[in-house]
Amino acid sequence: MQAEDWDARYAEQQQWSAGPNALVAELLADLPPGAAVDLAAGEGRHGLWLAERGWQVTAVDFSTTGLARGRSRPGADRVTWVTADVLAWDAPAASLDLVLVAYLHLPQADTTAVLRRAVGWLRPGGRLLVLGHDVDNVAHGVGGPQDPAILHSTARLAPVAALLEVDRLEQVRRAAPAGTALDTLLWGRRRGPTRRPTAVACAP
Ligand SMILES: C[S@@+](CC[C@H](N)C(=O)[O-])C[C@H]1O[C@@H](n2cnc3c(N)ncnc32)[C@H](O)[C@@H]1O
Repeated sequence: MQAEDWDARYAEQQQWSAGPNALVAELLADLPPGAAVDLAAGEGRHGLWLAERGWQVTAVDFSTTGLARGRSRPGADRVTWVTADVLAWDAPAASLDLVLVAYLHLPQADTTAVLRRAVGWLRPGGRLLVLGHDVDNVAHGVGGPQDPAILHSTARLAPVAALLEVDRLEQVRRAAPAGTALDTLLWGRRRGPTRRPTAVACAP
């Protein structure tokens, strides 16, 4: 779908709940706040939720209509809203503590390219959370895009997972109004030493 298609969809009605996806909330709730990017942020439900928790969030999406809905919500002034194509947008290397990519579905080569770049934006120890519809959802789940070419799977995310210390790479079930949906989760950390406080020598 192009930006205009997403604009039309967002103009019709609000697409997602105002609150975060339950698994996103579960994984991120206890992380210490830092600098985060919500990539393909849509109506900004995750960016707004993170900002409420003290994160410095940049929400990126190519739908001006989707972002406008986010911008109109309480607390929106705490988020930096950027209208851009994720295939072109860039962040400085090693500048982020978290990149969240929820339900962004692109052809596989584009997904891999975007996520590889996202790993480069993370500081050592910084987190990547990718969550989206699994390819098995078409036959065995409910809702979501029906084109298998743009859906996730653990195998499809494996090249990105190989760049990370992986905590979880798996198919997960999500309760939806119409039944159980199947998603793919990648949850990992950029390798490398995390910053530690400098040791202070004690007097004997
Ligand atoms: C299913 S929505 C998910 C929105 C949000 N992450 C959430 O979970 O509520 C997918 C979003 O991806 C955005 N998107 C798709 N392709 C994009 C691209 N190439 N660049 C920027 N945004 C894109 C759409 O505009 C849409 O807002």
